[in-house]
Formats: sequence, structure tokens, C-alpha cells
Amino acid sequence: MAKDVKMGVLGCGSIAEIAHFPSIDRRSEAALHAVCDIDRKTAEAAAKKWGAEKWYTDYREFLDKSGIDGVIIATPNNGHRNEAVRAAKNKIHVIVEKPVAVTNYEAWDIVKACRDNNVKLMVGCDRRFWTHNQWAKQLIEEGIIGNLLMSRACLHEHWYNYQNHVAKTPFRLDCKIAGGAAINDTGAHAIDLLTWLNGQKVKRSVGVAKRMAMPAEYTLCDDTALLIMEFENGAMGTVSCNRFSPAVNQVTELCGTEGTIFTCTDATNPFQSWPMAVYTSKEYTNENLPKLLKDYRWPELFWVEDIMHEKVRNRWVPMCPPRYPNNYDRMTEHYLDCIINDKEPLVSGEDGARSIEVMCATLKSMETGTWVELPLKEEIIPPYYEPLPKED
Ligand SMILES: NC(=O)c1ccc[n+]([C@@H]2O[C@H](COP(=O)([O-])OP(=O)(O)OC[C@H]3O[C@@H](n4cnc5c(N)ncnc54)[C@H](O)[C@@H]3O)[C@@H](O)[C@H]2O)c1
Repeated sequence: MAKDVKMGVLGCGSIAEIAHFPSIDRRSEAALHAVCDIDRKTAEAAAKKWGAEKWYTDYREFLDKSGIDGVIIATPNNGHRNEAVRAAKNKIHVIVEKPVAVTNYEAWDIVKACRDNNVKLMVGCDRRFWTHNQWAKQLIEEGIIGNLLMSRACLHEHWYNYQNHVAKTPFRLDCKIAGGAAINDTGAHAIDLLTWLNGQKVKRSVGVAKRMAMPAEYTLCDDTALLIMEFENGAMGTVSCNRFSPAVNQVTELCGTEGTIFTCTDATNPFQSWPMAVYTSKEYTNENLPKLLKDYRWPELFWVEDIMHEKVRNRWVPMCPPRYPNNYDRMTEHYLDCIINDKEPLVSGEDGARSIEVMCATLKSMETGTWVELPLKEEIIPPYYEPLPKED
């Protein structure tokens, strides 16, 4: 296939370098055409390293003149709104890194601009593209854990892990730009993942996001976020994220009336075991056991165990999904398929905006001391955040 889709990357920092440039590079249907970074050396170096024909330092010029079909926006959070809206008005398809924006109004502006201009908008919630999370989704939809009523997602990761070793700039520590941390940086992943796995919109949320571990001189952003979401079908989900635990720990637990699914990061899970486990109390025989469980359910005692028992015994099934193609490769492949074949992206702009509403509602709940209903009727500006003037 010819490399027909001309891609651009806006913000050539850490996530572009780790994830987006390599994933575009591995695609046969797309090529990196142009890049933009406010830092001249960074833009020029990225273009040279990843083979882009053009590079820019001003995002307006880049979006107006480069001739790209699609852009990945990987700049600090406060820029996403104006950048994505301008891309849409130039009829450029858009992936915006999470969080899609900082305030709920910023997020819905992006959604509206992309819908009005008929361009594909996807939010970079890569957790949905991890194989074990996709398997969990499939097993939930097949009904093997019954009714999903209670779920939780946590993502704990010390500031230093990423900030001191990977990030190119300190924007995450500046709340005027980032607008939050545990609630909207790592929280963006956890909220999105639970909402998607539940297959439900959030009806209301309540919680806290505050700075507990770091001194104010380091950052004014929150480093601890805990929230409860009630979904439209009445199911409950909790999210907990912190930015002070040195051990990265991402766990998702999905409790249904007939079973439970756990997924963890493959990087670190405290038991150093497979990153996924499934239990179902449904009565299966070897013939009708879902294929995923059949493939991973090794005998415990004897290799002809399944011949000895007509019914499959209920027990935890540990699963170890393949690591490759990785989440970003799968995400980029999916997004290009959406552009080329006119499909709806898996993580829609509306999904991204609803996640921002959950974050904003949670912040508001700290003021009111009660549940906050969605959709929000007012713009919530997180503490210390200084929105950029809106460009139209
Ligand atoms: N999906 C994930 O897991 C994940 C991981 C990391 C970052 N992110 C998101 O990606 C975005 C970028 O984060 P990062 O870690 O790559 O940051 P970073 O600090 O490493 O890089 C940001 C880059 O953007 C450039 N930049 C800043 N302002 C700009 C502007 N106005 N125009 C053009 N370039 C500009 C900087 O010079 C820098 O090179 C954030 O929204 C972040 O939340 C997502």
C-alpha cells in the first residue's frame, strides 16, 4: 500500500518520541510529512530523525500550510483546545493526547469543531488498545462475568519516574499549564478505561483531588485523586491515582454478578504474575468455554484433566497477552483505518470530553461536598489553571 496519508506531529516531546513517531514509521499506509515544535532545535531534529519533509515552530503556520491529512497533538494540555480547533478548521483529522483539554468547555469546543468540519477526532487513551483490556472488554460483552456492577481502576506513578527521566519539559509541574496531575494526567487513563469497560456514561461523580506529598515549591498540582463514578445503569466505579508511589501500579478490577476480571500493567504488578486473571462462575463444558479462556486455561494437575471432568471447574484463569504489536501501534493502525475507511474512532472526542467532565465534576464536588451530576451546566476551571485566550 502506498504511504498515502500525510501525517503531522505537533509537539515533538517525550510521548511523540516514545510512541507516535515510531508507530507512524511502522505503518505502510501513512508517512510522517511534517512536524512542529515551539523549540526550533527539537522540531528540526525530529524532522531529520523521523524523515519528515517539513518542520515548523509555529503551530498556526504548521496547520495552515503543511498540507497534512492528520495530526497528532502532543503538546502541553493548555494548548490542545486552540490547536485542535485550528486543525479541524483546516480539515485535518486529529488525535489529541489525553487529557483532551483541561476545562469541560475547552473539550466540547474541540468536539464541536471536529464534528462541524467532518474530521475524525480521537483521544489518545492508549489503555484501550492494550490487549488485556481489549480482552476484558470482549469477555464482559460475552457475558462471562454476568452483570458488571462494581469496578475500580488505579494508576499510581511517582512524578519523578516520568518527569526526571523521560519528559522533555516541566509543564506537568506547572498547574497554570497542566491544570492538574493525578486527577487529569494519570486520572485521564483510569476514568476513560473504566467508563469504556462499563460501556456506560457517567451520571454523577464525587471525590477529592489534592496535593499531599510534594511541597508547593515543587508543584501546586494535586498528587492524590480519589473519586466515585455512578454510571447511568446504576453500576459504581472508583478511580484512585497518585503521583507519589515509586512503584508503578495500574490495576483494574471488574466485579460482575457471575465473575471477576483483573488487569494490570505488564510493567509492574505486585505479584510479578500474569497481567490478567479471569474468574467466572458460569457453568461451561469444554465445548462451549469461551475461546480466550480455553486458550489460557492450563490443567492444574493432570494433562487429561478436561477429559476426566465433563464440566469445566470454576477457577481463576491467569492470562498473559502478547506484548506486540504494542498499544500505540494498535492505536495508530486503528486511527489510520478510521481516516481511510471512514470509521468512528474507538476513543471518540465525546468520550474524551465526558472524561474531562468527570474530572471537573469531581473538583466541583470538593466545593459542594456532594455528588455532581453530568453533563455539567457551567465551565469548571481547575485550581491554578490559566486558560489561554480562545482562538476561533
Ligand atoms: N498517553 C500517555 O500515556 C501519555 C504519556 C505522556 C504524555 N501524554 C500527553 O502528551 C502531551 C505531551 O506530553 P509530553 O510528556 O510529551 O511532554 P514533553 O514536555 O515531553 O513535550 C512537550 C513538547 O511540546 C513542545 N511544545 C510546547 N508548547 C508548544 C507549542 N505551543 N507549539 C509546539 N510545540 C510546543 C515542547 O517544546 C516539547 O517538545 C500531554 O498532553 C500529556 O498529557 C500522554
